[in-house]
Amino acid sequence: MYRHFIKPVLFALSIEQAHQLVLLLLRVVGLIPGGRWLLGKCCAITHPTLEREVFGVRFTNPIGVAAGFDRSGEVYRELHALGFGFVEIGTVTPSPQNGNPRPRVFRLPKDRAIVNRMGLVNSGLNKVIQHLRHSHKGLIVGCNIGKNTATPPENAAADYLKSFRNLYEYVDYFTVNISGENAANEGFSHTRDYVLHLLEPLFDFRRGQNNYRPIMLKISPDLTDEEIDEITDVLIETPLDGIVATNGTHRRDGLKTSRETLDKVGAGRLSGAPLTRRSIEIVRRIHTRSGGTYPIIGVGGMMTPDDVCEMLAAGADLVQLYTSYVYEGPGLVRDICRRLIAEAESVQKVENGTEPIEKTDV
Ligand code: FNR
Repeated sequence: MYRHFIKPVLFALSIEQAHQLVLLLLRVVGLIPGGRWLLGKCCAITHPTLEREVFGVRFTNPIGVAAGFDRSGEVYRELHALGFGFVEIGTVTPSPQNGNPRPRVFRLPKDRAIVNRMGLVNSGLNKVIQHLRHSHKGLIVGCNIGKNTATPPENAAADYLKSFRNLYEYVDYFTVNISGENAANEGFSHTRDYVLHLLEPLFDFRRGQNNYRPIMLKISPDLTDEEIDEITDVLIETPLDGIVATNGTHRRDGLKTSRETLDKVGAGRLSGAPLTRRSIEIVRRIHTRSGGTYPIIGVGGMMTPDDVCEMLAAGADLVQLYTSYVYEGPGLVRDICRRLIAEAESVQKVENGTEPIEKTDV
């Protein structure tokens, strides 16, 4: 249905127009009495083998919506109804932001990819709080927080703390987004000192609260192995709870899209299929270095159920989708859930001895 009827309509629009239309339709469904319930009946799959407990939070399934899709927390309840186990809203900044001039998001269909230089568009903290006041008991919502573009790096910590304090009672976990738009700043924003400078005020605030909110750190895929190890050591040595790996990349190597088109598109973060291998590699590296004991959310190029299985096997506890959802539509979450159920059941059969283990020639 998505591939034959909905996708051609959405792909006839610019990617931003299509996104606005999808948000509008989801909001309309949410306004119709029983709309979300019906959506859930049609789309969501529940099964005990899909359930996960990660950083003390219970998830009905490990497939989440990546940050950037529901930037201001407008449709997280409808996204849950579509079958996602959790939704990461944001990136939320203290003040609203309109972002960069359009066009600023582009599809690269030959690579099943997207390039975006949105510039952290969102309605700002106060509006997001209004949206989060809707009852969402039982739905897991994370909030990705960032600094306003106009805030200089030396004042960034105050921006993060402001969003963290004000949103603390409304969400289940936080993700600190340190990936800016500027490729040249990447090295700086991911250094141990800068990261600690942002995180420590959040740890201090959390210590004084009755409820514990896990804090994740979202990283760029363009780090060197040494930089990834340095960030992993921050995870091991501080109260940071886990890592979200990864954001989009600034790299353009190995793409099928022509050089001419890439030049026209220009700068921005590339997401989707070209990112799969690097994101899985990074998750495996963090998992190995941290002894497999810290939560990792794997995101980046999860295009198929196979990719998701590989990401989970590499050490991710949860995964998130964005670009694949644009290309494949809601059926993808169902396919992934079915695949995870089938995998879990075949493992159980082998463990119970009801399924013969394949013999190999000796
Ligand atoms: C994003 N992403 C993103 N990430 C983030 O932390 N804050 C944000 O505001 C956004 N905004 C955003 C907008 C658009 C249009 C896209 C395509 C992506 C990055 C996203 O959460 C994810 O990390 C990457 O897209 C990689 O995952 P996929 O798309 O390959 O599944």
